[in-house]
This record gives sequence, structure tokens and C-alpha cells, in this order.
Amino acid sequence: MASTNAATQQTVNTIADHQFYKDVIAGLASTPKHLDSKYFYDAHGDKLFQELMNCEEYYPTNCEMEIFTSQTAELCKAIIAGGDAFDMIELGAGDATKSTQLLKYLIDNKAEFTYLPIDISENVISYLNITLPVTLPGIKITGLNGEYFDMLRKAASISNKRKVVMFLGSNIGNMPVDVAQGFCRELHNNLSKGDMVLIGVDLKKNPKTVLAAYNDKEGITKRFNINLLERINRELGGDFNTTQFDHYATYNPETGACKSYLISLADQRVKIGSETISFQKDEYIDMEISQKYTAGQVDVMAAGAGFKPLNQFFDSKKWFVDAIWIAA
Ligand code: AVI
Repeated sequence: MASTNAATQQTVNTIADHQFYKDVIAGLASTPKHLDSKYFYDAHGDKLFQELMNCEEYYPTNCEMEIFTSQTAELCKAIIAGGDAFDMIELGAGDATKSTQLLKYLIDNKAEFTYLPIDISENVISYLNITLPVTLPGIKITGLNGEYFDMLRKAASISNKRKVVMFLGSNIGNMPVDVAQGFCRELHNNLSKGDMVLIGVDLKKNPKTVLAAYNDKEGITKRFNINLLERINRELGGDFNTTQFDHYATYNPETGACKSYLISLADQRVKIGSETISFQKDEYIDMEISQKYTAGQVDVMAAGAGFKPLNQFFDSKKWFVDAIWIAA
């Protein structure tokens, strides 16, 4: 019995030492309560995000794909620039579906480059290291598994070639504006003069179109949010009754902030490891921001971080932009 208790205690300690646990408890102990949307992406969350990208209302993926398929040559011409050898780095590469359009064109046109996908998921990196040489024969690939800026420093230590950093899918939108600005500044600090950034940003548009993308009829966005509570149950020994939470999305056309919340449907207490969190009926958990910008604000963000905005590529509806910035 004593050894079972010791083992249980050790499990609790191990969980309590875990960054995920610390962030969850700190977020739910705050007023207002919040959780970090970076934790949406466990294996279940990845699947739900794939479903979301295929749902009728979620437009950003299709818009960016349209840019990459219809303006491949123009994009690659800008990337190749003077024709010198370069390192093509992708932050948060995922399955690299969109970047594959560009990589294929670059290979077919004999551009001299190495592709360095960076991802926090070891699975993603080993998948890309194995599959891309099959789908894109001739590709030179060095997958880097870790945090973005640690891996950018590693990329700089591996080679002194010009860097082209891709940050696609409006991932920048999952940071509040001031944090996004700081992120771009740090990105600039990790690059050298003449290096390039290709950044995908979702644009302000009809508020109903934005809101529908984060409030889809099938309820995939709701499941995507609720999955984080389920993940807390699975990994941190939580006892969330997820039927007692509903999803609520808002979009403010003035600020461009699209926000997702989970609303507690009852007064309730939730145990997570050794902690108990109380919720009042109608209390919210701030789950995610998906910030939208104007094309002009994208240029301002570049300049504020020390980049020169070079070019902007839009889809036919002008709902999304892929911008090229040069480190000044
Ligand atoms: C990954 N990220 C850019 C998505 C977005 O649009 O903010 C995540 C997402 N959240 C709800 N739907 C999609």
C-alpha cells in the first residue's frame, strides 16, 4: 500500500512539475480565467484542426493555398532574389502542404536551397524528414525539432547562407497585437541584414464572414476548444464535465480581434490534480485570439520590427495576404 501511495505521489509530482500543468493552473486561477491556445494541438486537436480547415466556413487555409498555387512563380521569384544559395526555414511547418507548392517550384527551377522545417512536435519533424524526399525528389532537408527561436539560432549556426523564414497560416494572429509585434522584433533580432520573411496574415473583412469561420454550423470549432478541457482531463487528471461548458465566439471589426471563449453553464468545481477550480455560472475562460489586420497594418508591423515590406500577395477575394519583408 505504502509503495502504491509513493507511486501515486510521484505521478502527481511529475504532473505538477510539468509546464502544461503550471500554465493551466495559473490561467484558471487568474481573473479572468484563460488558457493558452498553443495547448489545443495534441493528437486529437491536430485532427480537429484538419477537420476545421476542410469545413465550409473556415476560409484562411483555402485563401492562402490559392495564393500559393496561382502566384507560385511570382512568389518564388521574390524568394530567389539575386540567385544566391539560401536556407528556407518554416516556423511551425506542420504537414508542409502549402509550402510544398513553393518547394516543388524551387526544385523544378534548380534553385539552390535547403529546407529547414522547425516544429515543436518531434513527430512532425520525423514525418517531414521521411516523406518530403519521397514527394519532392532532390530536396535537401534538415528538420529542426524545438522552440522557434532556439531552432533559428541553431539554423544560423549550421550555415551562414541567406535565410528565408516562412511563418504561414496567420499563426501570427494567435498572438495579441503587442505580443505579435514583440515576436516580429525578436524574429528580426535572430536574422541578418538582407534575410527575408514570408508571413501569411488573415485580413479584416465582412465581420459576418470572420465570425462564421470561428462559429461553424457543424460545431467543429466548439469541439476544438472543448478538446483542451478533455486534454486536461486526459493528461493532468482533471474532471471537467465538458457538457457544462459552451463555446462563444466574438469578432470586433474595430480592433480586428476575433476571440473564442468557453462559458461555464453552471456553478461548478473542477479538480485538476491536487487543485480545485471554482466556476460561477456564465463565467468565461478566454481560449484564443485570432487577430485580423489590414494590409496597411501588416506593413506597419514589419516596419516596427525593423523589416522593410517588399511585396504583398493577395487571394482573389483579398481576404488573406502573404507578405514579404526584408531584414533592414
Ligand atoms: C492556427 N490558427 C491560425 C487558427 C486560427 O485561425 O486562429 C486556429 C483556429 N482556431 C479556430 N479555428 C482555427
